[in-house]
Amino acid sequence: MKFTTGLALLSALATSTAQILVPPGPVKGPNTLVFKQIGGIPNNECLTFTNSGEIVQAACAWTHADRQVTPGKILGTDVLIVQRGFAAPFRGDLVGKTACVAFNETTFRAEDCSRNDLLFVRFDVGNGRIQANGAPVCLSGYDSKAFVKIDVGLQRCSQFTITAVAPTRP
Ligand SMILES: *[C@@H]1O[C@H](CO)[C@@H](O)[C@H](O)[C@H]1NC(C)=O
Repeated sequence: MKFTTGLALLSALATSTAQILVPPGPVKGPNTLVFKQIGGIPNNECLTFTNSGEIVQAACAWTHADRQVTPGKILGTDVLIVQRGFAAPFRGDLVGKTACVAFNETTFRAEDCSRNDLLFVRFDVGNGRIQANGAPVCLSGYDSKAFVKIDVGLQRCSQFTITAVAPTRP
């Protein structure tokens, strides 16, 4: 009898440990979006992801996977899930992974959604900003090569409108 109870306890422990060690992947929300900067410069208004997972502003296109992002959640935290796929040698770390927009301590770019050492980034529908969760950092314009910049302090945040699109194969 004691033995049986011990086994049951062990198996219950094993189950709960497995649930802690394997976090669930991101859950996609219903809408895949393209982001367009309000008041942006024509042909540089929409966000797109390069082969390296960096975010640049380019001409808007609704049917290209590299322009598309799906808001979703990881354990209740808002994230932006990147639609395009990535390949070696540019981003070997993202091959076969789901990528989310994250603050990598330098900029916002596509990173593995399962990483727990980064702050993920969300879209705030209320004010049109794209900003880090839990840190006052937002997307803020772009440089001479059209790579987006970030603003620490939320003083110069770009604002974006969204267009729902049909997701394109990554
Ligand atoms: C963050 O991303 C930028 C742009 O790709 C890269 O230059 C930088 O090395 C990255 N920083 C970290 C800490 O990975």
